[in-house]
Amino acid sequence: MAATADHSTTGASAPAYYVSTPIYYVNDRPHLGHAYTTVAGDVLTRWHRQRGEKVWYLTGTDEHGQKIMRTAEANGVTPQEWCDKLVEEAWKPLWEHLEIANDDFIRTTQQRHTDRVQEFVQDLYDKGEIYKGGYSGPYCVGCEEFKLPAELLDGATADEKLCAVHKRPVEWLEEENYFFRLSAYGPKLLEFYAANPDFIQPASARNEVLRFVEQDLKDLSISRSTFNWGVPLPWDEKHVLYVWVDALQNYITAAGYGSDPERFAELWPASVHLVGKDILRFHAVIWPAMLMAAGLPLPKRVVANGWLMVGGEKMSKSNLTGIAPTDLTSHFGVDAYRYYFLRAIPFGTDGSFSWEDFTARYTSELANDFGNLASRVAAMVGKYFDGVLPAATASGEAEKAVQDGLAAAVAAADRKIGEDLDFAGGLAAIFEFVKQVNGYISDQEPWKVAKDDSAEGRARLATILYTAAESLRATAVLLNPVMPSTAEKLWASLGAEAGLGALAAQTVAGAADWGRLPAGATVTKGAILFPRLEEKPAS
Ligand code: MSP
Repeated sequence: MAATADHSTTGASAPAYYVSTPIYYVNDRPHLGHAYTTVAGDVLTRWHRQRGEKVWYLTGTDEHGQKIMRTAEANGVTPQEWCDKLVEEAWKPLWEHLEIANDDFIRTTQQRHTDRVQEFVQDLYDKGEIYKGGYSGPYCVGCEEFKLPAELLDGATADEKLCAVHKRPVEWLEEENYFFRLSAYGPKLLEFYAANPDFIQPASARNEVLRFVEQDLKDLSISRSTFNWGVPLPWDEKHVLYVWVDALQNYITAAGYGSDPERFAELWPASVHLVGKDILRFHAVIWPAMLMAAGLPLPKRVVANGWLMVGGEKMSKSNLTGIAPTDLTSHFGVDAYRYYFLRAIPFGTDGSFSWEDFTARYTSELANDFGNLASRVAAMVGKYFDGVLPAATASGEAEKAVQDGLAAAVAAADRKIGEDLDFAGGLAAIFEFVKQVNGYISDQEPWKVAKDDSAEGRARLATILYTAAESLRATAVLLNPVMPSTAEKLWASLGAEAGLGALAAQTVAGAADWGRLPAGATVTKGAILFPRLEEKPAS
């Protein structure tokens, strides 16, 4: 849904909740690792939208640099042709498929970006923050990063050194470059981290950055002159800007920096930069120093997610499992996919994907606990009340316990997902409540109560089914940010729209507001939420 959402910022100047993903290199197609970060950001922003906040969610692509240039050359096309093709044929379609509701999609080759980038670096140059010097040292094109000798692994020969991430030889660079005075910012950064203890999360990431900055920071080479696929330096067009310094600025160029001051005031500073832990230093050291140099406020939080691993290594384009996101969505469905990675891997830690684990969670949590609950309740309202939701007139202790359980689940999920980015914990709280409702139905045995035709018996039966349906109403709201299509199906099956309006208009706080689903709603047994899985496709 790139760049089209109409739920974004409206009205004047109140700050918006602004979340960004890294912008991805388009040398290849997106894989499970990229989708992991993008889905997490989507759930976070949908959650905040559902709190009724103004939200802005940004993703995009990083299109300059040697890696892209070489890939294009190897494929016999220009870098721009390569980027256009990959963005349109691979990246945007995947985000649409995964129901990512980003408000903008920034590409670093767009003029709205490159013009502003030139102004930004010119400003730093004019302020004396950039000077000319010579650089010699190792560089990894895979990371697009200058390396320190101590970070490298030994290669096959005495002279060969390998990048520790890509396990491929680094290249020796010897160029005349421009430098940014990063070294001057060590003390200011440390002061900032101390004054803003939540700036870098999780704690392990924060500690790593502190240890790094406590050593002496070196000035950063910010230009390259041996190739030309990049943003030219305005004062010396023989140089293009180092791809990272160009890319980091997407967070402000897309937000109206230098082009739309009103929008920029509303959006900046960003609320959360989501990053993989591999690119933490760029976001928590270099980017803040650049912003300090420019006199701009710093983002409020940089949150690092762990890696999806394959065979003990970071999943990457070079060591793919051969499993693309769409291989999983075609088997498990998009919503289960969005759910699984966030539920199975505590955000911030590394985790491995396994087909077996996904299957087990799909079956027990989604199909049995949640899907069956929804279909049983709809079936019973159909059978005992002709599909018209009865009123709860005989509530007692058991119903009170369910209401309390819901209130606790909403409070926990709101804190964990909305504030702590603990998606696994928030989902666990919601599914704890689903389990509680299942337990409530087993205990109350409505199928037995249905045999009692007395007025009391009917009132009891009505109360049990209302309680279960109302619990599902709340569950649909809570799960909407994570599994939007499923939540929509459930909303339709509960006939909730007639009394409560669209699911998208419901709020997190309203989820806990017991008794919203009106008696008289038309409950239908809709499509099965999580159908039985087919056999695992042969690999
Ligand atoms: N272009 C830079 C980012 C610039 S941001 C100003 C870049 N791109 S990337 O395509 O290589 O990867 C970006 C991000 O994708 C990672 O930091 C991370 O968020 C995500 N992931 C890539 N592989 C991943 C895993 N195996 N696991 C989890 N996330 C991963 O770096």
